[in-house]
Amino acid sequence: MNILGIETSCDETAAAIVTDNREVLSNVVRSQNEKHLPYGGVVPEIAARAHLEIIESIIRQSITEAKLDFGDLDGIAATCGPGLIGGVIVGSMVGKAISASRKIPFIAANHLEGHALTARLTHNIHFPYLVLLLSGGHSQFIIAEGVGKYQIIGNTIDDALGEAFDKVAKMLGIGFPGGPALERVASFGSAGRFNLPRPLKGREGADFSFSGLKTSVRNKIEKMDDKNISEKDVQDLCADFQCAVSDIIKDRVVNALDIFRKKYPICEKLVLCGGVASNQVIRTTLEQSIQPLGINLIAPPLNLCTDNGAMIAWVGVERLRLGLVNTLDFKPRPRWSLDELKNSC
Ligand code: KG4
Ligand code: ZN
Repeated sequence: MNILGIETSCDETAAAIVTDNREVLSNVVRSQNEKHLPYGGVVPEIAARAHLEIIESIIRQSITEAKLDFGDLDGIAATCGPGLIGGVIVGSMVGKAISASRKIPFIAANHLEGHALTARLTHNIHFPYLVLLLSGGHSQFIIAEGVGKYQIIGNTIDDALGEAFDKVAKMLGIGFPGGPALERVASFGSAGRFNLPRPLKGREGADFSFSGLKTSVRNKIEKMDDKNISEKDVQDLCADFQCAVSDIIKDRVVNALDIFRKKYPICEKLVLCGGVASNQVIRTTLEQSIQPLGINLIAPPLNLCTDNGAMIAWVGVERLRLGLVNTLDFKPRPRWSLDELKNSC
């Protein structure tokens, strides 16, 4: 089975072909970074137009690189939410058009399900498992019980972690997108100088809060006075921010594992996914903190953590296998929580 996946929910235009044997035959991702750079963040209208300009060539490239033809496709999955509505409309309309013209099944993919299921593509793991999803719009602990069956057991009560990375990077003027830029700058600094807070650390439950941490970074910058802030200050502040984030995650994961074990006593792995999961410091510190608890960290390769078409194609594989296909009148959903899926179309 060859499934085409289309992803256009934020600022990456992506298409990929994945088989039901877990082979990624192609995975084409085109970032719009340069277009949004002058604004220091993703501009929805610009993003939608940019998707429209290149979606066709990205899909053609994914088919050529897979050494296939349109006639070899057995199904098509396109992200239908959550995400920026303009981009989601572009991707889903193109997906529906291909589905209608080739008479192949259409799968309206939930972007978050794509992140959560990637570990089954890369590591062939079985349900149930605990997921830590850290992306630009979400920071959640999720119990994945089956395709379409998710229980959110921890959520951010304010900012998502990727958003916090992006905002702190913007405050420090170190580039866009903020996450990778901050990780790079932090690698030159040393943590421990700035005494940043760890919101919710030590508290019950598995929720996150990152807004106070972000505000604290802003206060430190203001105290230093823009003109006096040196390159070393910026590097150390980035290292401190990353260290605080890692500390918070280490604390929250213990509670999330407890909650998971109450429902499923055997737990041997934790799946980390979403764009922030490509951060090496977070991956390593999390792995080291859960190993003594007998838990293995399962994290997809970096290019399958950030947004891509392969994860959407894989949602297509998983859903098509269960006969969970959608009709072409499926309406894109800019807001679409994982616990609203309920293993249905
Ligand atoms: O999953 P993703 O590609 O898109 C969404 O679904 O949101 O995640 C994007 C987020 C952005 O906030 C980006 O800054 C962050 O992931 N990110 C990182 C790193 N790479 C991407 N954050 C920290 N460290 C990184 N290396
Ligand atoms: Zn994503």
